[in-house]
Amino acid sequence: MRTKLIAGNWKMNPSLAKGRELAREVVERTRGLGCEVVVIPPVPLVQAIGEIVVGTHVGLGAQNLHPERSGAYTGEAAGSMWVELGARYVLCGHSERRQLFGETSRFVGAKVAAARRDGLVPILCVGETLDEREAGVTEAVVTEQLVAGLADVGAADADGIVIAYEPVWAIGTGKNATPEQAQAVHRFVRGWLGQHLGADAAERIRILYGGSVKASNAKELLGQPDIDGALVGGASLEAAGFAAIAAASA
Ligand code: PGA
Repeated sequence: MRTKLIAGNWKMNPSLAKGRELAREVVERTRGLGCEVVVIPPVPLVQAIGEIVVGTHVGLGAQNLHPERSGAYTGEAAGSMWVELGARYVLCGHSERRQLFGETSRFVGAKVAAARRDGLVPILCVGETLDEREAGVTEAVVTEQLVAGLADVGAADADGIVIAYEPVWAIGTGKNATPEQAQAVHRFVRGWLGQHLGADAAERIRILYGGSVKASNAKELLGQPDIDGALVGGASLEAAGFAAIAAASA
């Protein structure tokens, strides 16, 4: 039985003061819901938010890492630095990183491997654009992202990785995939995992859905058999709505 994971990707929001308030409220409102809850603040807030959530039931994540352990990489952060601040998760290959910052699937794969090496759980994000969906190549796109993203991952890593399926056309647009559309891709991803890592690993790996998840659509999405949680952007910036999404996973 896979424990549902509800992760809030705060992206480049909010201020330090608002972030602290949000983190405290998330801790208060998500107690005892039976799911795992994680907040993923922007870089300058990770330490301060960690001071609030580490040691509670709410986990801490980072939005990115560099594959190297240390060195001359101005503006970057190493996985071991996130671990020192109490983080357990790290996003790898979010579509905004791929689209706006030119991250290739191969580079994303190096990040996933580095996260494992450094003791973090990578959340590998995959998903197609609207053009790709309309061209009927969703499965091919997701496959390419899985092949490269999990190049250095084996069956023994099953409990230490998470996949997030996020159709790019549903991110920040208010247009979520229908539960059926999402479930179809999730089932496809689990099938791929089964072929490459074995049936046992495929059953254990959590596959989150992301893209305009909110309190009003969470229950239906999270009710699908292969949807094991949500990666929430916009709706994670408001504690009551985020907590309602977590509650919907029960
Ligand atoms: P959204 O973002 O919930 O605002 O669509 C999701 C994500 O980018 O992870």
